[in-house]
Amino acid sequence: MADMPVPRRGSSIGIDLGTTNSLAAMVGNSGTADILPNRAGEAWTPSVISPRRSKQEAGNYLVGTEALHNFGRDPRNTIRSIKRLMGLTFNDPTVRVAREQITYEILEDPSRANALVVRIGGSLLTPEEVSAKILERIKTDAEERLNNPVTHAVITVPAYFKEPQRAATWNAGLLAGLSVTAILDEPTAAALSEYHGVKDSPARVLVFDFGGGTLDFSLLQITNSGFTVISYGGDNFLGGDDIDRGLARVITERIFDEGGVVKEDDYRLQALLKQEAEAAKKILSSGADTAQLNNIPVRRADGSMLDLEMELTPADLARTMAPIERRVREALEKYLRKESLPPESITDVLMVGGSSAVPAIQRLLRDIFESDGVRRVRLARSPMEAVAKGAALYAKMIVGVRCICGQENNLDAKTCVKCNKTLQSGTFTMDDATSRTITSRLPGSMGVGYRAGNDADAYQVILRKGSLYPITEPIRETFRLPSTLKFTLNILEGDELKASQNHLASVLQVDQLPPDVKEGDPVTVGFAYDRNRILYISITFPSSKEKFSPQWKLDRQKETPPDEAINALLVLLPRVRNFLNEYRDLIEQGVRLKLQDDLDQAQNAITTSNRTEAERLQGVMSRSLFDGCGIASTLFMAEHTIAQDHPKLGHAVKEGALKLRQQAKDRDPEKETTRKALEQLVTRALMGEKNQASEDLGNWDMLTR
Ligand SMILES: Nc1ncnc2c1ncn2[C@@H]1O[C@H](COP(=O)(O)OP(=O)(O)OP(=O)(O)O)[C@@H](O)[C@H]1O
Ligand SMILES: [Mg+2]
Repeated sequence: MADMPVPRRGSSIGIDLGTTNSLAAMVGNSGTADILPNRAGEAWTPSVISPRRSKQEAGNYLVGTEALHNFGRDPRNTIRSIKRLMGLTFNDPTVRVAREQITYEILEDPSRANALVVRIGGSLLTPEEVSAKILERIKTDAEERLNNPVTHAVITVPAYFKEPQRAATWNAGLLAGLSVTAILDEPTAAALSEYHGVKDSPARVLVFDFGGGTLDFSLLQITNSGFTVISYGGDNFLGGDDIDRGLARVITERIFDEGGVVKEDDYRLQALLKQEAEAAKKILSSGADTAQLNNIPVRRADGSMLDLEMELTPADLARTMAPIERRVREALEKYLRKESLPPESITDVLMVGGSSAVPAIQRLLRDIFESDGVRRVRLARSPMEAVAKGAALYAKMIVGVRCICGQENNLDAKTCVKCNKTLQSGTFTMDDATSRTITSRLPGSMGVGYRAGNDADAYQVILRKGSLYPITEPIRETFRLPSTLKFTLNILEGDELKASQNHLASVLQVDQLPPDVKEGDPVTVGFAYDRNRILYISITFPSSKEKFSPQWKLDRQKETPPDEAINALLVLLPRVRNFLNEYRDLIEQGVRLKLQDDLDQAQNAITTSNRTEAERLQGVMSRSLFDGCGIASTLFMAEHTIAQDHPKLGHAVKEGALKLRQQAKDRDPEKETTRKALEQLVTRALMGEKNQASEDLGNWDMLTR
């Protein structure tokens, strides 16, 4: 990139590149941050792309609202929620879950092992390329609005994004033709927009960001000199989408009650129901008594059209919200416990993100944080715009980069004009003394594992949990060299005492040591950590006369193998889903909803790699499957155990299940007779009385004729 011509400096904007919606903002002459509406005049652009239909424009894409409209028609080729996949490898457990939820295809990149691509129309695009199309659109729309080229941008990412995810976001900006001045944490941006210029800002702010697909919270320390992210938590798979899915289920139930058919693989209808659910959610969240749904194109089993009208009520929303509120509460309480934060120790809870508009969520937060009667919770002035506005403020504040050597450099410089060092780990210089700095605290310690005498499992922390970063001047620790043949250094993250108990982030191997070092000589390891959370590792040998000081950038892309419990859950999930599809009319509604809720939690356990939860849910769901769902469980079990060695019997059970299901749907009084016959057949078969069961099969044929 270094020799690319630097374009004439145009406008510098802030971009909130969201899972669901993306927004741009800029600080104008008035000094306040304003949203830059897109070409259609909307404040936000849905983060969605789909191929154009006409062949002449192959390779051209619809972006934003137009693409979203295409979702109902062509969900297989409409790319949504790409942010979930940014910077991840194909085998990442999050990707595996996403593959089940997402309507488009995620594939392993044929040209790069373990990299992922998505299929759109006839092409394969990387997540960075998809995000770049969204950013390109934001850029052009902003240029049109400003009548001036946009060359620079600050782009926001969730606080929990790791280095590869940040790097991918950065690349997406470059692909879109933007000079990315900084990658900024979303909660910091939200706090900036809300407290910038406020004299007596609250000291400890919990930013609660509830968006379309994720729930993030971050604790910020705000002082007169700066903003610091202290810690963060949340639930990566919880957001407005879950509310929409829940309400869509309520709608589906009603359709079934009216004799309609909703197939799981009818993507168009599923997409439409989700859109209807989202619209109803917004209406009900605004305090309306009902949300009316008209003209949903549904058919009966015989193919005839069903003219369907229905009303959703606040009670429907409340029922849908119950499991979501529980998950929000659990995530919050877990986070507060982990950080030893009593709710009263927080000065302000700032609610941002579109889903913070749901009243039940606001009530829940007041319940948790205001039990002592002190008002702490407040909704941001514009919950969906705060992040973009904060990014715009930051974009305006940054004017240059200060090198480690102290030299001020132009924002576009890649290396220092004085010492020629890379400016990657430099700090920003701000436009004036009133601008507050932005720093973060390390969420966990980092260090090295090494052999110390007889202890092969020693862990030396180099960067301590809670230290402020960026750390430009390396922190150093010195050890004794265990051997002169080669030197292996395990780079670890975590706060456990022993090396093996911490997370192995990378392994460095120095094969060629300077010839004049001996076993037992000192070796000094230095860690520096830049604002984009890239770790720089340096090794020096103080006793050596040779000039030897290799440096590494930490490669975090190396995978850790997925856990066994998580793998088992990954196998179980589709089975439970099929089970629910196949036997839905035979499972009591309460049990069914509980199982659906377990499914959501299981997904969450997979994405957070929570092995204890994974084990628990595997147990809970297996029990439901084989035992907890009455006749549905019996049939499921029979189908799976008999079919292998007695195909005819297996087939009969399957047929019986179908018949029973239809009878249940039609509320046919014959249902009881079928159920008894079927139960008898199944019991015999399961007890191994195959001959007897075959006899029953004859009776069964008569019965079902
Ligand atoms: N008035 C409203 N009432 C309820 N929900 C709303 C309202 N307005 C927007 N939403 C919901 O907010 C969500 C989008 O929020 P937002 O734009 O903050 O998400 P995002 O930033 O794109 O996603 P994320 O933060 O997960 O990356 C959608 O689920 C949308 O349905
Ligand atoms: Mg957001």
